[in-house]
Amino acid sequence: MIHLKKRKSIKSSNMSDWIKIKVAMPQMPDTLAKQTIRDFGRQHEIYSESAGYYVSTDILRDVLGPLMKIEDFKGLDVLDLGSGTGRWLRIFHELGANSITAVEPSAAIEVSKSNTVGVKNIIFQNVTGENMTGGPYDIVYSYGVIHHIPEPGPVIKRAYDVLKPGGRIVIWLYGRENNGLYLAFVRLLRIITIRLPDRALDALCRILVPLVRAYSQLCKLLPLPLRDYMSQFVDKIDSYTLTHVIYDQLDPHFAKYYRRQEAVDLMENAGFRNLHLFHRQNYSWTVMATKPES
Ligand SMILES: C[S@@+](CC[C@H](N)C(=O)[O-])C[C@H]1O[C@@H](n2cnc3c(N)ncnc32)[C@H](O)[C@@H]1O
Repeated sequence: MIHLKKRKSIKSSNMSDWIKIKVAMPQMPDTLAKQTIRDFGRQHEIYSESAGYYVSTDILRDVLGPLMKIEDFKGLDVLDLGSGTGRWLRIFHELGANSITAVEPSAAIEVSKSNTVGVKNIIFQNVTGENMTGGPYDIVYSYGVIHHIPEPGPVIKRAYDVLKPGGRIVIWLYGRENNGLYLAFVRLLRIITIRLPDRALDALCRILVPLVRAYSQLCKLLPLPLRDYMSQFVDKIDSYTLTHVIYDQLDPHFAKYYRRQEAVDLMENAGFRNLHLFHRQNYSWTVMATKPES
């Protein structure tokens, strides 16, 4: 388990911080991409800490499912694309990765640096995925990132370029399948929440935590949407992390939910082959693919 510094509070006595509405105009993909990156910079500064299941090798095992064993990271040169607070970096270190490269375009790069103090074999790149350098790497890992990029093709192509021949990419994406009801609900909510100031959204997320916990209990009795996600993830995380996870759903300006075929096309268009998909918790996709040897 990873122990990090004391949790920050974002409480404010300044009333204007609570009522200032963020401007959310229709945006071009490039502007939307930059806005979403800024959203994550703020988000990861607010929720800078991670502990327990959320940063354990167990969660990586759950992400990979039958696609790959966590022990296979030993000795590899790993690139973590969109490293956020850096929670996967320590996991790769624990698993004996040979080198770890963290690519993170937002202000969160500083959070990931301070969360990995003492880990010597990490190289940080404060760039977008399109501009990452170095390698060649054995594996590019990217959790929860690609679905927040309005035009992800060039990023996946760049991942292809920095991999060794025979190297693998593993990405985890929000899935569209089985999420119809949830999406109808969350899309309505997001019309308001992407415009809320941070403090007001944080307060709303704290209010939602017990409601999500109650829903999770109900899922034990009834076959409700996101049932597997509740028992295999929500029930295993603490309330601070759950607040962060809810905020993560409601704040970023751009989020896409991928159908299986869209995920396949994204990878194949970049040149990847030998695709394997895992429908994780029946609501999301872990995709593993290989750069051909020649
Ligand atoms: C939901 S967070 C996931 C962070 C981390 N992978 C994790 O699992 O905790 C998405 C991350 O993707 C990053 N991101 C957004 N656009 C990106 C891009 N074009 N290239 C690389 N990273 C990007 C964001 O800054 C953010 O840190």
